[in-house]
Amino acid sequence: MKRGFILNTRPTQQKTALITGASAGIGRDYARYLAAEGYDLILTARRKARLEEVARELSGAFGTQATVLTADLTDPAAPTKLAADIRKKGLQVDYLVNNAGYQVPGFFDRVRWDVQRDMIQIMMTAVAELCHIFGPEMAARGFGRIVNISSVAAFVPGQAGGALYPSVKAFVLRLSQSLATEYQTAGVHVVAVCPGFTWSEFHDVAGNRAQMNKLPGFMWLDGPKVVSDAHKAVEARRGPVVVNGWVYKVLATVLQIIPDNWIGRLAARGTRNSSIRPEDARDATVSHARKSSTKSATKKPNGKSSRKAKTPARKTVKRTGKRADNG
Ligand SMILES: NC(=O)c1ccc[n+]([C@@H]2O[C@H](COP(=O)([O-])OP(=O)(O)OC[C@H]3O[C@@H](n4cnc5c(N)ncnc54)[C@H](OP(=O)(O)O)[C@@H]3O)[C@@H](O)[C@H]2O)c1
Repeated sequence: MKRGFILNTRPTQQKTALITGASAGIGRDYARYLAAEGYDLILTARRKARLEEVARELSGAFGTQATVLTADLTDPAAPTKLAADIRKKGLQVDYLVNNAGYQVPGFFDRVRWDVQRDMIQIMMTAVAELCHIFGPEMAARGFGRIVNISSVAAFVPGQAGGALYPSVKAFVLRLSQSLATEYQTAGVHVVAVCPGFTWSEFHDVAGNRAQMNKLPGFMWLDGPKVVSDAHKAVEARRGPVVVNGWVYKVLATVLQIIPDNWIGRLAARGTRNSSIRPEDARDATVSHARKSSTKSATKKPNGKSSRKAKTPARKTVKRTGKRADNG
């Protein structure tokens, strides 16, 4: 879609994309990509200053009409409020990118329930609700694109530490597959995108950047490549599951061949995500001992010592799980 052509001839057909989590990482890369493709944008996340910066950048570079709507998607009322704000502005959503998310490290029973409930809300309920709000409108117009950012973690059947993450990502993957089937003849294309480790603020927020920087360079994906894979797949109605990068394509294939119970037993030995963030800690009433979290910081999930980092450390962002507006 080229902006000039559409603006000069059929302005009513200008398409608009809603991107959640557009203030950083993959969401911001998605905003840049779709702006270059000629889409107008509705950018949402919590950090207003960051979103405004992205909006300014893209309207300057591509003439994009970028609307900023802040929302905290851990609030159960946020999806309906967002939809109401979009309608009030006379906008419609032709392309939905459900991207906002994060990981909460730590063993399930050591992390406060409200922290995990918030994660379920933003990464499952809000994803489903936004599809439920905007999908029917897209189908009624005969055009729509829904890109749900899942993860290669969706293929991992059980993980010691960070138990919710593969669970919510598997939900996103399955939901996307079902919607792709339901919308098969409606002109609405749906994909679940499954990146592996991707450069973004994700691991800074999870508090494991130093540990993750020890991973070899070939395990890291670049956000813009993840985005272009996702966009090309949804346009061509490929998938509906898109795994990014050859390393993760191989991994996802292997994980689907090996019986879940075998992997589950191996995963039970890992402690990769066991280091709890102090702000998420549940009051220490759990008596049974866990493996030391310091150990996990120097070991890879397979138990071997981590190799020295070959990948240059990217700019790290010091933030807590509850992000401040540091835009
Ligand atoms: N990076 C990876 O290695 C990787 C791998 C596989 C999948 N993923 C998935 O990719 C997606 C994007 O992650 P990323 O890597 O780009 O991480 P990121 O750089 O940390 O960006 C996360 C985005 O989510 C937004 N967000 C966080 N909490 C929010 C809330 N309560 N309400 C609204 N927005 C919120 C953040 O904005 P504010 O802080 O301004 O609200 C930010 O824009 C996530 O779903 C993640 O699970 C990432």
